Amino acid sequence: ETAEKGGYETFMLKEIHEQPQAIAETIADRTARGVGVDLGDLGAIDDAFLRDVRRIVVVACGTSYHAGLIGRYAIERWARVPVEMDIASEYRYRDPVVGPYDLVVGISQSGETADTLAAMRLARESGATVLAITNVMGSQVTRDADGVLFTRAGLEIGVAATKTFVAQVAAMYLLALRLAELRGTLPAARLRELIAELKRVPGSVAALLERGDDDVQAIARRHYKAEFFLYLGRHIGLPVALEGALKLKEISYIATDAYAAGEMKHGPIALLDDDTPVVCVATDSPVLEKLISNIQEVRVRGAHVIAVATAGNDELQEHADEIVAVPATDWMLAPLLAVIPLQLLAYRVARLRGLDVDQPRNLAKTVTVE
Ligand code: G6P
Repeated sequence: ETAEKGGYETFMLKEIHEQPQAIAETIADRTARGVGVDLGDLGAIDDAFLRDVRRIVVVACGTSYHAGLIGRYAIERWARVPVEMDIASEYRYRDPVVGPYDLVVGISQSGETADTLAAMRLARESGATVLAITNVMGSQVTRDADGVLFTRAGLEIGVAATKTFVAQVAAMYLLALRLAELRGTLPAARLRELIAELKRVPGSVAALLERGDDDVQAIARRHYKAEFFLYLGRHIGLPVALEGALKLKEISYIATDAYAAGEMKHGPIALLDDDTPVVCVATDSPVLEKLISNIQEVRVRGAHVIAVATAGNDELQEHADEIVAVPATDWMLAPLLAVIPLQLLAYRVARLRGLDVDQPRNLAKTVTVE
């Protein structure tokens, strides 16, 4: 087993460090042209269908759902196709309005999650075209879909998903860019620029992993005894906050809440106490100023702000107690970088609490029951 961990203390840490590769492999040949995106053989899903599709519905569970949320922002912004999202276990029971003009995207790392499979089957029976995004060749989801887009993260053993998540996010970006290309919703130069930026992300993730862990360890040492962490984000930072909060609760058993920062005043602000750790996903974006005013609301309550910010933007210095900087990229691609310190924070906190991060209590890697 030590050999399988490749020198790392746990599978999860190994897999966190395999993320540059997981992203690079997922985008590699698909972005080789540079001017557009090739998704390869999507089975029965052809370019004409993608060009004319009226709506996209994403169904998934857990971490895969968070990857879908990021994809929604990208598809709507770049390709101007409306995207609806649902948790698979809810979707299947709400008698959804879905039909032949819809593309339903089921995201499942394992390809075996019962709720996601059932949601996809329901959509298909209603006449929708179904695309599966999965990491496992030959999994059930590949047999139940009209087309498959594989992530190429390699086998993931840690129960808490890390490298499969970033690969799913990369796959959603590819889908969004392909839709934009087919529909002509982005100028060619912008499309080219986004593809070039996406190709630079694996190198930036590698650089971040090399130096970011020290900063995160210091933060983890300060807060690992906390009983509650609040995570805040806006726009594409929100799914990152949701994922960071999920990682922490999964492996450290600390109660977390993740909220759209603008919604904080409608509830979670009541939870803030002196020194409550509040993790803010504050990478550069058109809504950063709005987020900063939310951060100020947190700070007047005495809570402790931990910000994930874009390197080179010093604005957060005066608003946060601790900052982890992530390399700059196109702001829409920032989730691939911003999630890394949050995975590491969950990891370091769980280790300081002496927990088994690879096999957290009560959780399973693949959930094949309802
Ligand atoms: C389980 C795993 C999670 C995963 C979720 C969905 O809860 O512990 O890490 O995100 O299932 O799994 P899937 O294989 O469908 O992505």
